[in-house]
Amino acid sequence: MSLWRKKSITKLLADADNSEHGLKKSLTAWSLIALGIGAIIGAGLFVRTAAAAGEHAGNAVTLSFVVAALGCLFAGLCYAEFASMIPIAGSAYTYAYTTMGELVAWIIGWALVLEYALGAATVSIAWSEYLNKLLGGAIPYNLCHSPFEMSAGGQHGLINLPALFILLVITLLLIKGTQESASVNAIIVFVKVSIVLIFIAIGWGFMKSANHTPYLIPDNAPPVDLGNGKTYDYSPAVNHGWLGVLRGAAVVFFAFIGFDAVSTAAQETKNPKRDMPIGILGSLAVCTVLYILFSHVLTGVAPYTDFLKAGKEASVTYAIQHYMTGYAWLGTLVSVAILAGFSSVILVMLMGQSRVFYSMSNDGLLPKVFSDLHPKFRTPYKSNMILFLFVGFFGAFIPGSVAGDLTSIGTLLAFVLVCLGIIIMRKADPDRPRPFRTPMVPLVPILGILVCGAMIATLDSTTLLTAFGWMIFGLIIFFSYSRFHSNIGKENLPKS
Ligand code: ALA
Repeated sequence: MSLWRKKSITKLLADADNSEHGLKKSLTAWSLIALGIGAIIGAGLFVRTAAAAGEHAGNAVTLSFVVAALGCLFAGLCYAEFASMIPIAGSAYTYAYTTMGELVAWIIGWALVLEYALGAATVSIAWSEYLNKLLGGAIPYNLCHSPFEMSAGGQHGLINLPALFILLVITLLLIKGTQESASVNAIIVFVKVSIVLIFIAIGWGFMKSANHTPYLIPDNAPPVDLGNGKTYDYSPAVNHGWLGVLRGAAVVFFAFIGFDAVSTAAQETKNPKRDMPIGILGSLAVCTVLYILFSHVLTGVAPYTDFLKAGKEASVTYAIQHYMTGYAWLGTLVSVAILAGFSSVILVMLMGQSRVFYSMSNDGLLPKVFSDLHPKFRTPYKSNMILFLFVGFFGAFIPGSVAGDLTSIGTLLAFVLVCLGIIIMRKADPDRPRPFRTPMVPLVPILGILVCGAMIATLDSTTLLTAFGWMIFGLIIFFSYSRFHSNIGKENLPKS
């Protein structure tokens, strides 16, 4: 049984066309851009930006965004070629199945679980942070933090209930259907982009040039007293200077995750060949510009060291309340908008995950329960419910920073493999029509591999080891179940 057996693109496209009983085709280019922005702007911008600035990059977090955006651009150009050529639900997983074979496809699909499922968990944790800020800290610490977290006053967390709550609500919405969720998403995207623009416009007047100097964290930056007997040390190589910018890029990379989720909706798109590249690259472009401006203003309004201390949680609302006198109302408005914004991110992440499982299950690599559609709503409702249990576990019990870094590494790994896939595909199947062609192959994919690989290399050893453990677990499932249940495997069995 070959580990490298591939799905034929021609058969794949024919199967998708035969979709009378499959997913509903209801999305257009605009809904894809909205879906992309809905997935993209979220905890990465409103939570991880401040963490990257405070811990690694300082004011140069703007440059971290540039590095992360470059990695995404190179990978995004590769995604766009695949998405226009193979417009099938399942994202990078499906592309790999046709180019690099079953084992690599499984590895990517498994890495995508880190991206989408843990991404949703990370954002649900951030949602809980901003909800508590909005309620003036009314939720007891132990009911909105993981058991691995401790407050400045020494109190331990127990369970993150608000995170669980929002995950449940979004799961129910998703079970009802894509069309409805896309409409809700469009409204939320409007609110989210507006709030980013308002913060940039008003915050611009409150920036202090002293906060922006020096731009990179110097190697002799003094340690910061965190208040609970601990200090934060800037002397490690990834906590200052240019390496700090690169490590910051791996952290804020989270803010870009989601543009590829657009590709998971290919099968529900009316004209995927044209609309997929527009959706992917359009949403990426809009967000990059907003992020650079936003992070410039945030670090100009508040000194970045604040984000290690009092401004560590719900940092944007903190910066407004402490430094933008007369704009308390904006702090409240931002919190409300961010809560809505995070909901749309969770929605796209959970939808992306259930669609990847849908494809893997249709291929026989996962049990059929993941592709059973609801008789009325035609959504993979059982998959959504199982996912809720899995994601809910992480949302309730794991700290946001841990889930966030795991999300980044899973996504970066998938990006590297997608870039590799483009190079392989151009050689293996040069004549297949490519409505969108990645420019300058192999340069662009190679640059994608290098930039994303460099970001992976800066992540801490615990994250790297956990991700490694996750991948090993995935391989055990592959070799003990998926390999023997794969549809292609069954087709190739000798007839008795
Ligand atoms: N990009 C998404 C966010 O920042 C995952 O929340």
